[in-house]
Amino acid sequence: MIAIGCDHGGFELKKEVLAFLEANGFEYKDFGTNSTDSVNYAPIAAKVARAVAGGECEKGILICGTGIGMSLAANKVRGIRAACCSDHFSAKYTRLHNDSNILCMGGRVVGAGVACELVDLFLNTEFEGGRHAVRIEEIAKIEEGLL
Ligand code: RB5
Repeated sequence: MIAIGCDHGGFELKKEVLAFLEANGFEYKDFGTNSTDSVNYAPIAAKVARAVAGGECEKGILICGTGIGMSLAANKVRGIRAACCSDHFSAKYTRLHNDSNILCMGGRVVGAGVACELVDLFLNTEFEGGRHAVRIEEIAKIEEGLL
């Protein structure tokens, strides 16, 4: 199950991403928003991030105007590694090396074609583990105040 959410700046792109998820057989839970009416991004980021951190959803996708506000907010939730991506290399390597669990994108940054390819890479690339697992453990130590 994929958790997905957006603000007004990401609503149009989210519709394209939802169509991509449906066409490719991914189940999703949509946490809104459902129009281009102005809405604050942090509460939506929190809902998606908690669904992922709590295990209800395996991964998440968050879309705002830039993708940055959503990533900043989502990364406040313990256990979340949200990556704001607008290129293919970053979307692939944030899975391989960072085991990112939320992909953030900017609806005013990337077009639907690129966004859907980023989603495809993000959802279909496995974490490499090994030395990268140690590095992720260090990120978790920051959350615990141990680093
Ligand atoms: C909304 O105008 C915009 O600030 C928001 O979508 C996002 O880009 C924030 O980071």
